[in-house]
Amino acid sequence: MTDTPSSTVYRLDYTVPAFLVSHIDLTFDLDPSATQVSATTTLHHNPESGLHDLILYGEALELVRVVMNGKTLDKQDYILENGNLRIPGAPDDVTLTIDTLIHPDKNTSLMGLYLSNGNFFTQCEAEGFRKITYYPDRPDVMATYTVTIKADRQSCPVLLSNGNLVETGELPDGRHYAKWDDPFRKPSYLFALVAGKLVCREETFRLADGRDVLLQVWVEQGNLDKTAHAMESLKHSIRWDETRFGLELDLDRFMIVAVSDFNMGAMENKGLNIFNTRYVLANPRIATDVDYANIESVVGHEYFHNWTGDRVTCRDWFQLSLKEGLTVFRDQEFSADLTGSDSGRAVKRIEDVRTLRQLQFPEDAGPMAHPVRPDSYQEINNFYTVTVYEKGAEVVRMYQTLLGRDGFRKGMDLYFKRHDGQAVTCNDFLAAMADANGRDLSQFERWYSQAGTPRVKLESHYDAAAGAVTLKLSQHCPETPGQAEKHPFLIPVAVGLLDRQGNDMPLHQPGKDGTQTTAILELTQESQTFTFTGITEKPVVSALRNFSAPVILEYDQSDDELLHLLSHDSDHFNRWEAGQRLASRRLVALTKAVQTGAPLSLDDAFIDAYRTVLTDTRLDAALRELALTLPSEMMIAERMDEIDPQAIRSARQYMRGALAKRLEKEWLAALEANRTEGAYRPTPQDAGKRALKNLALSYLLTLDDTRYAQIAIDQYHQADNMTDRLAALTSLVHAGYTTGLPETKALLEHFYREFENEALVIDKWFSLQATSPCADIQTIRTLMTHPAFTIRNPNRARSLIFGFCHNNMAQFHATDGSGYAFWSENLIELDKINPQVAARLARCMDQWKRYIPSLRELAGDALRHVSQQTLSRDTREIIGKTLSA
Ligand code: TRP
Ligand code: ZN
Repeated sequence: MTDTPSSTVYRLDYTVPAFLVSHIDLTFDLDPSATQVSATTTLHHNPESGLHDLILYGEALELVRVVMNGKTLDKQDYILENGNLRIPGAPDDVTLTIDTLIHPDKNTSLMGLYLSNGNFFTQCEAEGFRKITYYPDRPDVMATYTVTIKADRQSCPVLLSNGNLVETGELPDGRHYAKWDDPFRKPSYLFALVAGKLVCREETFRLADGRDVLLQVWVEQGNLDKTAHAMESLKHSIRWDETRFGLELDLDRFMIVAVSDFNMGAMENKGLNIFNTRYVLANPRIATDVDYANIESVVGHEYFHNWTGDRVTCRDWFQLSLKEGLTVFRDQEFSADLTGSDSGRAVKRIEDVRTLRQLQFPEDAGPMAHPVRPDSYQEINNFYTVTVYEKGAEVVRMYQTLLGRDGFRKGMDLYFKRHDGQAVTCNDFLAAMADANGRDLSQFERWYSQAGTPRVKLESHYDAAAGAVTLKLSQHCPETPGQAEKHPFLIPVAVGLLDRQGNDMPLHQPGKDGTQTTAILELTQESQTFTFTGITEKPVVSALRNFSAPVILEYDQSDDELLHLLSHDSDHFNRWEAGQRLASRRLVALTKAVQTGAPLSLDDAFIDAYRTVLTDTRLDAALRELALTLPSEMMIAERMDEIDPQAIRSARQYMRGALAKRLEKEWLAALEANRTEGAYRPTPQDAGKRALKNLALSYLLTLDDTRYAQIAIDQYHQADNMTDRLAALTSLVHAGYTTGLPETKALLEHFYREFENEALVIDKWFSLQATSPCADIQTIRTLMTHPAFTIRNPNRARSLIFGFCHNNMAQFHATDGSGYAFWSENLIELDKINPQVAARLARCMDQWKRYIPSLRELAGDALRHVSQQTLSRDTREIIGKTLSA
């Protein structure tokens, strides 16, 4: 916490470090209230730097002693400023021993060394290592590590760090120690230590090259029966990286540790990945299909970082997407490949694009808009964003779309050949892709430097006489904070043409060899025309197939054309897209009708289209479920000039009700036909069936008919898995049965008692209530006083507070401002405890200027009230940008 004005860090200010570290030897004497850290570092002056001051970053440290080259330094030998330690004019070769004292029990920020349920954990990315010792805590300083951990044997039987265990032994007073050695040079943000009472599931696993490695999943006692899926996912990840990218595990031992108190999803510390429990623990009783899928992808994500992040790391934090965009792309491809089918891949793609549009597009259009490679920041933690992660992954995907899978692989191979063991930049990655494929990709760099979501406009023209189709593509990118002028992007636009029967037409471009059914058009200018010849009838254009670029496509297509695509497109993604566009059109119109008090209605053509999808049993259940799920309130808001959350909710509820009523028979049939058989399995097939069945149930529950409520109640009791149980309960609560049907209240209580000791399930219990359309501010305030609620645990805080503020639009933006008052109170409280999590809560207000005037005024008051408090750097940056944009 500080009152000093925010200082901004700029990408172009980068300078090489004055000193490099070859090795660091760390000793921890662990104690919850006073841990002693002794760090002996071997440093050498960097010949590339003209500066000779040795700068060691520090934060909230008690300095005990500094010894340089055998001499204990006096206070006048160094300068302590802004928490950092500077030794002016240090000699070229330095051996430095620094002793510090830290207080894990007082550390509520969950950065650096902290306690969770009595166990010790570290989190060092991005700048947490400086809360452990004074160090050149920047990613371009890479060193080998030896770590000795001393602790009480009783309370800390398990002592873990990166690399290989080289020594263990006894110490006086019931203490013991373990010594770890990590032979791979790494930046300090990849350091980790875990100590406490933990148990593990372990297996030896044979790598492709024949080496046996030890795999471990560490959890708190009582959770071993929830580790099988994480272990399976880890083995799948190792195999996948071997086969798809030829990348092998480079250690003899690979550990995953689950922790209940964690700011983010998981962390890729070398050989010792630390995970939020929600991305490790699963069994059918406590975890849903979505949890199973998330665990698989996060385990994959962190494992894949071993190459894309750890072996090759970032030069500075502006390059964060170098590792995150690439690793998200890799985990997306991993999950897609594991589904084992084309429709499985499409399902995964649709889900990923939905996330991008729902979260990243608004970010790109709001006060926090920034390029995939940001130009400046006040607090780097605020830049672990959907832009850096998800848009970054889209940017990586575009290389693959442009170069083909083989070309992309060649680029990856060259990237590792050139940069293994180095800290590099996004431009180095681009250069590897370009050079490996003999292509000039200089224009592509704009995807890294320009913020905002490009608009691509498409106009199609069919010339019957010439048998030719021309597609005119043009692009423009809206202004974003600090970037008024934009230059054209290189945009791969995948297109296909459908004939009257719905079949793909062979595509031939004049002057180009061969035909295909999907062409990748490269849009590089502001405006360009592409022609296909030999087209014998007017086609329906399927544009931006598989979402080939992170853009907003503006293309006027009639309902008939969209219906044609919805029923026939060979590109599954665009079938889904056509359905979403049909629904969005109507939802926007309905919202306007709600606002003007005009009568609401839904046309037969739309109902018929939905009926066709619902009853098309040739389509996988998972795809049908996605197609039949209406665009979210947030997605509808994106399409409105002025956001009126209550009108949007009414329109969407009306549409759900109409679809329920007019397809009642079909929903019921889908419910019956999609019950899964046998023991619970989280396979894409079974998960898809459950998703469709539970969607059908939620539609039916909007009809005021106790028969359907009874089906849900029965499903709740008979379910042998959390997916079905939670879906039944959620649908009942969200349909408003908590007031009308006493059984629903009883079920909520039953659920709580049944899972009282499963923290992750209690999170679900809070969040299902927080996101209910019926949850007004009083419901939320009452839940805040529940004995199981605590603002200190990020998962719990997220489930209730974020659940309401981020995922319950119409209630949060209540016209009396009660949601905003709740937000500001909790933001101010949370900011004193955990700035990183508080700054995420601050982002609920990103869009405030786009709301209807009455809400805008109330939101502005709340923001100004918060801005007048003493805030952390994290929250101050967000509030400042939100108010000033
Ligand atoms: N590098 C992590 C990942 O994406 C992200 C992360 C985990 C993180 N914990 C953090 C980032 C704490 C900042 C602060 O895999
Ligand atoms: Zn990551």
